Amino acid sequence: MPVNNTPSIIAIDGPAASGKSTIGLRLAKALGYLFFDTGVMYRAITWLALQRGIDVRDEAALTALAEKTQIDVAPASKSDGRACDVLVDGQDITWETRRRKVDANVSIVAAYRGVRSALSQQQRRIGQRGHVVMVGRDIGTVVLPEADLKIYLDATAEERARRRYDEIMDRGGKANYDEILERVIERDRIDSTRDVAPLKAAEDAVVIDSDQLTADEVFERALALCK
Ligand code: CDP
Repeated sequence: MPVNNTPSIIAIDGPAASGKSTIGLRLAKALGYLFFDTGVMYRAITWLALQRGIDVRDEAALTALAEKTQIDVAPASKSDGRACDVLVDGQDITWETRRRKVDANVSIVAAYRGVRSALSQQQRRIGQRGHVVMVGRDIGTVVLPEADLKIYLDATAEERARRRYDEIMDRGGKANYDEILERVIERDRIDSTRDVAPLKAAEDAVVIDSDQLTADEVFERALALCK
């Protein structure tokens, strides 16, 4: 930990739609750190595979794709609700990675050892530079176990589905709560039962249960942990 006691590498993990990106982005802004949402890398590979007609069950093909694709995650260039830009071969695919089809397939792709190995190496390189808030499923456990501060953000599936529903409606989209809930539960199931880097809180993580908390309250708690 640096001399002034502010943690330099901050890892935030947790299940789908637990508010990691919202809190991570605010924390990064408050500290002047880089915000890095690792989920977008798994989403980018999934979107690319679907786009190219590659079967998401083809582990070898997905691994090859993850190994050769250059994914760039950059600070948001537009104020359209995005937390960051996602670029593949120079093309802005930020909103494509949020499509329903990507949501439904990303956990299958993220369970592949080769895909994880390719992407987490890139994540680790960026994280080790410090002054970073990195968000995902396995940051505190696998990608950056040396992180100075680890937060595990949790909430019930119902609350998380409700938040995701509101988020889509606020953007003027169409959404079905029951369908979102079903997908959130299914993604959590795959993410927490996979063999490689399953979703779980690191032993030294601070768990924040956000069910009864507003986004502001979660942010204040997270910020207090950085002081
Ligand atoms: O934002 P949301 O919580 O819906 O998901 P995300 O963070 O964008 O992650 C999408 C998917 O990528 C997750 O459901 C995981 O399957 C996978 N993922 C992962 O395996 N490891 C990470 N470090 C980040 C995401």
